[in-house]
Amino acid sequence: MTDLPRRSLAAGAGLLAGAIAPGACAQQVARPATPQPSGVVTVPKFITRPLVFNPEKVRGLSAGLLRGHHDNEYAGAVKRLNTVCEELAKVDFADTPAQRIGELKREEQITHNSTILHEIYFEGIAEAPSQASGLLAQAMSRDFGSLDRWRAEFVGTGRSLASGSGWVILAYAPRDKRLFNHWAADDSMAPAGGVPLLAMDMYEHAYAADYGTDAAKYIEAFVQAIKWTSAERLYREAIRV
Ligand SMILES: [Fe+2]
Repeated sequence: MTDLPRRSLAAGAGLLAGAIAPGACAQQVARPATPQPSGVVTVPKFITRPLVFNPEKVRGLSAGLLRGHHDNEYAGAVKRLNTVCEELAKVDFADTPAQRIGELKREEQITHNSTILHEIYFEGIAEAPSQASGLLAQAMSRDFGSLDRWRAEFVGTGRSLASGSGWVILAYAPRDKRLFNHWAADDSMAPAGGVPLLAMDMYEHAYAADYGTDAAKYIEAFVQAIKWTSAERLYREAIRV
């Protein structure tokens, strides 16, 4: 493994992030100030974003739960993503067993998705929740029939994942020019081409400390704590793509 592959990991990761959430992930990749010489692999450095709300004041979700979720699960995913990107930069793909390449690429995909979805999850929570409004509220009424109908589908999809893992993702599909509530059984699932606007973490670590196995109560608390301004901003960016 002496020759470095002639590609840029940063470019690849940026494309993946852009495909999933324009503007949501690319901002967090620290890039070199000057272009790298040809043949030098640029390793992306993902940065853990701080909480942007006061966890002591979120109704229905305790500060201990939110801090632990952020500091352990989310920050852990970012750390694992950085580690696997460093590993991949050293790989000679022509001389590495296919199984090992598969392990690394699987880890890259899972930790990248987990990083992006956790950031949208925490951006979607606030101590002062708000109602959906503006263009996004109009699109939700258009595509789901009403805001109440959207909520019923989002909550119901969450309940279908109450066994302890997965995500419910309100996403905009540029190809179809409409919104969907997507069901994802684990971090590796994401709708092809979908731009996530709001993500509800259904892993047990997101609620067990407060609610035990009562996922339904957690879902209700999350929906009550949604800060729609983040989803509205992501929607405005998505429809310009
Ligand atoms: Fe999580």
